[in-house]
Amino acid sequence: MLCFCCFGRACLIPNTGYLSEAAASIVSEMLQLDVVPTTRIVKLASPSFFYSRFFGHYDVRPKEGSFQLYVNGYESGNTVFARWNYDKNLLNEEEEAKFQLLFQKMCIVDYVIRNTDRHMDNLLVRHVPGYEINLAAIDNGLAFPVRHPECTSRFRTYPFRWSNFPWAQAEFDPALRQHVLSLLTPHFVHRLCADLKKLFRHGIASSNYMLVNSQLRVVRGQIWNLRQALLANESPSEMAQRQPVVVCRSSDIVMQSPRQPRGMIGLWSNLPHENNCVDECEHRKAFNDSGANKKDTENSADFE
Ligand SMILES: Nc1ncnc2c1ncn2[C@@H]1O[C@H](COP(=O)(O)OP(=O)(O)OP(=O)(O)O)[C@@H](O)[C@H]1O
Ligand SMILES: [Mg+2]
Repeated sequence: MLCFCCFGRACLIPNTGYLSEAAASIVSEMLQLDVVPTTRIVKLASPSFFYSRFFGHYDVRPKEGSFQLYVNGYESGNTVFARWNYDKNLLNEEEEAKFQLLFQKMCIVDYVIRNTDRHMDNLLVRHVPGYEINLAAIDNGLAFPVRHPECTSRFRTYPFRWSNFPWAQAEFDPALRQHVLSLLTPHFVHRLCADLKKLFRHGIASSNYMLVNSQLRVVRGQIWNLRQALLANESPSEMAQRQPVVVCRSSDIVMQSPRQPRGMIGLWSNLPHENNCVDECEHRKAFNDSGANKKDTENSADFE
């Protein structure tokens, strides 16, 4: 009998979706891509929230969650794309180019956070023909896995849905490519991971602290792959096909050896894409070899 848990997201830490929402916003801001509406962690109290009741009585007390800026006049991507498909004249060339750039920015953020839930209803688009075109990547709660989803279950995969869209087939926009490559220094990765760690550790029980390191290993692996893809002038679609990589500290490597078969139903053994593991020293060296800004290179000593 197949169990429902086989089809859940075993690679995610349960009940931390709100942290993932805020973390996606941080990644989007730090990469200066601004495709995720600003999202922060707040505490709010309201009688309309759920509170456990004791003989019908309950206390309205503050609850923690993510709070996202509402974007006005946006519609679901599926709705807008269907309209564009129906009437090919709705999107002029200039708008198409602008949308492709926005779409590619979203691909970068999605890739770094390893979002497992980017279907086109979680992408909002505002298009006023001849006037404005914009994009908002919402619903980022199912991102930041502790392990690459491809390596977690052979029953369910989490492909990047955007990789089939025409805007993901073109090579990355040259200016965007340059912009992101210039940002991806060891110092930048260190700062980004430090911010994410602070956010993630704030919200979870101390028994789960080590899981945050696993999340960051995946993030660094995605950044590693992103950089390789940009250097090789790939398209977002080609980048999505890269072998998953985790970047670990030397002391972690031994933990990354392939799992031993458990003899059950082969659920975890011999998975199709076992993680490639890049030692963090190699990671740092590769960044440094690329001629990264000298100041950032010097700061790389405290990477992680
Ligand atoms: N920041 C936002 N600005 C404007 N509209 C939004 C925003 N976030 C969500 N929405 C609207 O709410 C709808 C549902 O949002 P969302 O995708 O986050 O939730 P969901 O998929 O229904 O739930 P879940 O988070 O449980 O997956 C969106 O399709 C969109 O219309
Ligand atoms: Mg949604």
